[in-house]
Amino acid sequence: MDKYGLTYITINRANLLHNARFFKEKSNKQLIAVIKSNAYGHGMLEVAKILNEEADVFAVDSLDNALSLRKNGITKPILILNPIDYNYLDIVLENDLMITVNSLTELQKLTQDTDKLKLHIKVDTGMNRFGIKSQHELDEMLNYIKTKKWQLVGIYSHFHSPNDEIYSIRQQKRFLEMLESIDHEFTYIHLCSTSAVLNNLDIPETTHVRIGLGLYGICDSPDVKPVLSLYAKIVLKKLVSAEEIVGYGAKFKPKQDMWIGVLPCGYADGIIRHNTSRQVYIDGHYTDIIGSVCMNAMMIRLPHPHVEGDVELIGPHVSALEVAHHLNTISYEVTTILPAHLKRIVI
Ligand SMILES: Cc1ncc(COP(=O)(O)O)c(C=O)c1O
Repeated sequence: MDKYGLTYITINRANLLHNARFFKEKSNKQLIAVIKSNAYGHGMLEVAKILNEEADVFAVDSLDNALSLRKNGITKPILILNPIDYNYLDIVLENDLMITVNSLTELQKLTQDTDKLKLHIKVDTGMNRFGIKSQHELDEMLNYIKTKKWQLVGIYSHFHSPNDEIYSIRQQKRFLEMLESIDHEFTYIHLCSTSAVLNNLDIPETTHVRIGLGLYGICDSPDVKPVLSLYAKIVLKKLVSAEEIVGYGAKFKPKQDMWIGVLPCGYADGIIRHNTSRQVYIDGHYTDIIGSVCMNAMMIRLPHPHVEGDVELIGPHVSALEVAHHLNTISYEVTTILPAHLKRIVI
């Protein structure tokens, strides 16, 4: 992380806790806080330390992330969602981590027969990504697990279109059919992500909800509050005349003399080139990014030469949802691509 950088992210602790409590109360379930991919760009360790008081479980995508949590004092249960390299199973056991198994073939690669190993079975109820699809394979896996000392602690699936009621009910039905076929007490049964909870999908058979986006407050709901803001300092102000151009490829030509500000961040900092011409906020004014975004710099139009303070690239006045709209993508992507080198300040 760049300790001395002029571009920085702030993480609003109160909003993060508010969102976590909201999802727990609304779902009336325990919370698996999804903090994979550097907590959707928010900073995994910063987020985990704040959420430690509200989350019941943390979910990450890799063994490295899980280890980093343990090394930084997180003692809560940790579930690794993505497949791992089983050559490193010892590390999983030493650090009391839970792993996801997606097939009988995977199970057969688990060489240690120990009751320290905690497994969640992933069921593919329609997304065709991770998980087992057939009842037959599920039965085979369960029979195999019975021959081992392992702890089968959890079972879960994932909605591919949680905003679509027909698809979601179909997936829920499939999940419950498989769950009902199993004579086993699970500690963790989980299916609902952010949109499923917001759409009031209440599944009494589940014990936990698995929430990512909603924790960060970047979904379309009046009940959650955004957590992340991204700011950059203006490092240079200059007057550009109407005959001149701004930036690579001479893409911007002012129609009249104008003041511009140079910011020390660019596409290497997660502000991809498609951000050109989108709004930013400074000193009580909305203004815009001009010219092509460079690798480590960009230029903005200044409302006047005396503006003060830092430029808000994402934050209370420029939401990640609006940025996503401009970039023709989803808010997940807008924050997740903010690189780890950017300083995160918890406020
Ligand atoms: C397996 C799994 N569970 C839960 C989530 C969290 O989903 P959301 O961020 O929509 O809450 C994700 C997100 O990608 C996921 O892949």
